[in-house]
Order: sequence, then C-alpha cells, then structure tokens
Amino acid sequence: MATVRKEIAGKRLVFLGSHYDAPPKLGLPEIAFVGRSNVGKSSAINRLLGTSRAARVSKTPGRTQAINLFEVEERLVFADLPGYGFAKVPDSVKQNWHSLIGGYLAGRTSLKLVVVLVDIRRDPQELDSEMIWWLREERVPLMVIATKQDKLSRNKAAASLAKVRKSFGISKKMCVGFSSLNGAGVDAMWELINEAVTVGFDS
Ligand code: GTP
Ligand code: MG
Repeated sequence: MATVRKEIAGKRLVFLGSHYDAPPKLGLPEIAFVGRSNVGKSSAINRLLGTSRAARVSKTPGRTQAINLFEVEERLVFADLPGYGFAKVPDSVKQNWHSLIGGYLAGRTSLKLVVVLVDIRRDPQELDSEMIWWLREERVPLMVIATKQDKLSRNKAAASLAKVRKSFGISKKMCVGFSSLNGAGVDAMWELINEAVTVGFDS
C-alpha cells in the first residue's frame, strides 16, 4: 500500500494520507463525514478523537479538498471528505468533487456509515437533502448530526433537531445534536459508530 502512515497519538491515531483519487483498500470498517463546506466536519472528527491535531480546521470554506483518512485504534477508519455547496468553487473543481466523492461513497464495501453534518442554526438545505436521498438510493447507511449546537439555546436546538429529522425522514436514534466546542453528542455518536462497525446498520 502506497499510503503514508503518520502516527498522531501513538497507535491510537494514524494519519493515512490525503487522497485525490480513490483510496486503496484498507481492510478496516470506514466511517465517512460529509456536509457543506464549513459545517464542521473536520472539527467533529477532532472532537470525536479527542485531539485538535488530526483533521485540519479552517474558517475558509473549501479547506479540505481531498479524502483524508485517519486510522483509529487499529480498528476503524474515519474519512474526512471535502465539503460541498461552496459557491466560489469553479465548475471543474465541482466536477472533480462529484467523481471523487461519488465514486468513494457509492463503491466502497468497507464503508459502514456516512455521517451527514448539518448546521443546527439553518433550515434544512436542498443540497443536504439531495445527498441523503442519493445515499439511500446507493444503499449506504447514514446518520445526521446537527452541529454547532453550542450556538443555540436548549429549546431552539431541540426544535431545530425535530425539524431536521422530519425534513430528512431520519429516526430519532440516527439524528444527533452535536457540538465540537462543548462535546455535546460525542457519546451518542460513538455508540452509533461502534454499532455501525460491529453489528452494522441497514441501508
Ligand atoms: P471544509 O473542510 O471547508 O468543508 O469545512 P469543515 O466542514 O471541515 O469545517 P471545519 O471543521 O473546518 O470548521 C469550520 C468552522 O466552523 C471553523 O471556524 C470551526 O472552528 C467552526 N466550528 C466547527 N464546529 C463547530 C461547533 O460545533 N461549534 C462552533 N461554535 N463552531 C464550530
Ligand atoms: Mg474540513
């Protein structure tokens, strides 16, 4: 395998490189993180892994342009994917995104769960809906996390979560309020991730 292996926190966390083409087979279950540019995918990965040093976080949308892979505790892999919906990205880059991400998400038997991130402060977005329906058609198990929950009051967050669930047709279990800032939703997410890699979810 040509992939780099760079230890970030000993054997607990290993960076497996930035992939601009289909990543090689890894032999471990994979969890992918998708969502609009700047929604907080890289931050969520870092929070779940308990480090600020894994995925690169930025205020500039479109920061993550490749599939970045992280091996966790020698038992699963997180895939940090480039965001979608950033208007300033040229068409050629958008097309590239579609072939890279579409190819990865649709054809990967090791992919056990796709985590679709949405911003809890925004009304459900058409692009997220398209992504969710496309994943369903491709029979890829998915969950939704509504992130940046720290920016809303408890009541507003609950109302927004309910809206997200209803609009995307997601069960309560598979829709989690999350915050990379204060760690809300981290335990619930790990439970789902562990279930995905051990038992598996129906697609
Ligand atoms: P791309 O790679 O460009 O698609 O972005 P991304 O989805 O990986 O977003 P990233 O994690 O880089 O975060 C974007 C910005 O949102 C950064 O300024 C983060 O600090 C901020 N952010 C991410 N998650 C949270 C959160 O839960 N709460 C708050 N308050 N800010 C967050
Ligand atoms: Mg990112």
